[in-house]
Amino acid sequence: MVPAPTSLRGRDLMRIADLTAAEIETVLAHAERLKAHRHGGPSRTLLDGRVLGMLFEQPSTRTRASFEVAMTQLGGTALNLAAGDLQLSRGEPIRDTAIVLSRYVDAIVMRTASHERVEELAASADAPVINGLTPLHHPCQALADLLTVKEHLGRLDGVRIAFLGDGNSNVCHSLLEACALVGVDLVVASPPGYEPALDVHRRASQPAAASGARIEIASGPREAAADADVLYTDVWTSMGSEHERGQRAADLAPYGLDERLLRLASDRAVVMHCLPAHVGEEITEGLLYGDRSAVWDQAENRLHAQKALLALVVA
Ligand code: CP
Ligand code: NVA
Repeated sequence: MVPAPTSLRGRDLMRIADLTAAEIETVLAHAERLKAHRHGGPSRTLLDGRVLGMLFEQPSTRTRASFEVAMTQLGGTALNLAAGDLQLSRGEPIRDTAIVLSRYVDAIVMRTASHERVEELAASADAPVINGLTPLHHPCQALADLLTVKEHLGRLDGVRIAFLGDGNSNVCHSLLEACALVGVDLVVASPPGYEPALDVHRRASQPAAASGARIEIASGPREAAADADVLYTDVWTSMGSEHERGQRAADLAPYGLDERLLRLASDRAVVMHCLPAHVGEEITEGLLYGDRSAVWDQAENRLHAQKALLALVVA
């Protein structure tokens, strides 16, 4: 196996915009190699003796499990730091937690309800910190998303992704930043009030100009889906927005992915969803489990993309 390039060693990952296009391509290429050698090869001992601290203040299935499996498959271990078990839950400052954990572990992944909180952890931690989801960004998801697009369509160049639904979500923000950097066209169709955050959109304009990516807001779901290579959606009610569930369901109802929208897309179009899914809301059962679904490969690719990221950041 080709040795890991060192440019990401020791780096924090708060958002996709922290990376360059070349760094994303390095992560993807490394992920492809690791996926091909998933049950063997020198990567099995790459992180021998290394420990990942996993600080989760919110629920997770994929992120938590895939990070733990990633560390195990690379020869290291993962330490589950459930928020309620830490002195953090009794008021110990995040700064002190970061300083102490950095004396024990080689990297920290954190999921939390405040983006400032993960930035605060990173600012005080000597160990590299990876954002495992905040309300604003979900960079690990976007790395797996690009890997999945590449795998299913054979390329990133010239691909057009249509994101339908809550464009103001962490998942859409990270996808937008990733597409802008690597030159994938992204069209977002969201109801008024659910558009991507303006500062995220604006900040992406420079990398998009450099890569040639077109980042657009569509006037409606049908316009977005037309000729798209990927139809992508996220849950309508993200963690922390549960009190808005009824309003969100009403506002976002016209943006659910269904068979009629898929018929407008390109012949080889695939359907993506970060999961957890709500069948009958943002996606139909037929699309989620059907033969055009890339969703389960996308979930698996969280493992391979994060193995690559860990290998590059920690090794
Ligand atoms: N997509 C994703 O991050 O899933 P989890 O919330 O289960 O980690
Ligand atoms: N936008 C969703 C993503 C879940 C992985 C949320 O924040 O809950």
